[in-house]
Amino acid sequence: MNTAYLSFAYLLSSVLFILSIRGLASPDTARRGNILGMVAMLIAIIVTMFSPLVSEYLWIAAAVVFGGLVGTFIALRVKMTSLPQMIAAFNGLGGLSSVFIALAEILAGSQSYLESSLGLLIGAVAFSGSVIAFAKLQGLMSPKAIVFPGQQLLNLLLAAGMITVCILFVISGSPNLFYLLAGIAVILGFLLVLPIGGADMPVVISVLNAYSGWAAVGIGFSLNNVLLIIVGAIVGASGTILSYIMTKAMNRSLSSVMLGGFGIEAAKSAAAGEEKTAKAGNPEDAAFIMENANKVIIVPGYGMAVAQAQHVLKEMATDLRRLYDVEVKFAIHPVAGRMPGHMNVLLAEANIPYEDVYELEEINREFATADVAYVIGANDITNPLARTDPGSPIFGMPVLDVEKAKTVFFVKRSLASGYSGVENPLFFADNTIMLYGDAKKVTEEIVGTLERK
Ligand code: TAP
Repeated sequence: MNTAYLSFAYLLSSVLFILSIRGLASPDTARRGNILGMVAMLIAIIVTMFSPLVSEYLWIAAAVVFGGLVGTFIALRVKMTSLPQMIAAFNGLGGLSSVFIALAEILAGSQSYLESSLGLLIGAVAFSGSVIAFAKLQGLMSPKAIVFPGQQLLNLLLAAGMITVCILFVISGSPNLFYLLAGIAVILGFLLVLPIGGADMPVVISVLNAYSGWAAVGIGFSLNNVLLIIVGAIVGASGTILSYIMTKAMNRSLSSVMLGGFGIEAAKSAAAGEEKTAKAGNPEDAAFIMENANKVIIVPGYGMAVAQAQHVLKEMATDLRRLYDVEVKFAIHPVAGRMPGHMNVLLAEANIPYEDVYELEEINREFATADVAYVIGANDITNPLARTDPGSPIFGMPVLDVEKAKTVFFVKRSLASGYSGVENPLFFADNTIMLYGDAKKVTEEIVGTLERK
């Protein structure tokens, strides 16, 4: 294909990618954003096939068919609650492909040493870091922070070694130094994510996502491919901004997350608690209290996603409003569930109007005027220890002040802790009633009682 056509097609694809990310900014336009991204990627792949640099089609076709089949199979089967693992795995594969492209470039005699080595080292850190993140999220290894003495010093030495080898490679161009660079970066990626645990994993996923983007930028420069540079920069910049937003939402600094160590206190805090009893109620009691309330605030969390209780939750809200004239609002914590926007997506899927859904800072003051906080499958995002216990791994994270409501219902199967492993003292509070059971089943029973009257 003529290079002018090629450049035009790349430009078109870049514009579509930019419009795609813009579309993803709101649930209203997210579907369109996804479609634009798919079209952009299709154009990029087809046009690249016609590039004069491509001479061998068999391997490319095999990779497209194999990768396409595996990707489709995984995407069709993955549960909503396992999306973070899938994103971790895809980030890792993105990083790994940057590593292979950089190696291929150098072995093919490319002189772009600096660009290739940057693509290689960022890609290798993204790859190995994502492997650990995947293993932690998938439950293949303990999600807690794994720390050992001298860890940060070791990381510092490895980082210094990596920079030194990188400089030596840029000067000499020796492939052996390139392999050494890849090895150090892979080890550093493992070590950087091991000490991160508890509630900080979402930030890590987003940081690794940004890394895979920046690695693509490095590779884009080394291949002289403008599209790769633009798209890599979009992924890198959006991942960086998302990491910033999440660390802010959790009241952390990025450096404190990446230097790690959170989550190790969890076991200690939980073990320190003395024997306490929690009051248990049943769905009929809950229905009675809620139908007599003026204001109910519903707080969904990860367990609502597991139980897929969003549709019946919408029914409950509708019944309370229509049959009993109760004001019902939904409160969403920025890290509720297991991925950014997890609750927003599920509530939107159940056609709960956006105007009924409030972010933490908009609604937190309203709990004091609410009769009921209906906490469904949520735990960490309501834990007051985040405010009061400096030793807790979630200390500093803003939480929803559900305990200020007159009555708090916790719908969950047991008194077990949430993702961070920290026990929630609210279960034992005077105004808390536990509704034990699956989130969907319990809510269905409440709806049944509300509609029977
Ligand atoms: P969690 O603190 O993890 O609590 C969820 C609760 O749901 C669990 O305590 C569990 O208790 C209950 N549960 C599970 N399955 C259930 C079911 N079928 N029916 C009823 N309850 C069920 O969730 P959260 O409050 O949403 O907080 C999110 C946590 O995940 C934070 O620590 C956050 O940092 C972390 N995280 C967030 C993200 C993002 S970006 N959102 C990504 C990764 C991690 P039982 O076992 O007793 O039922």
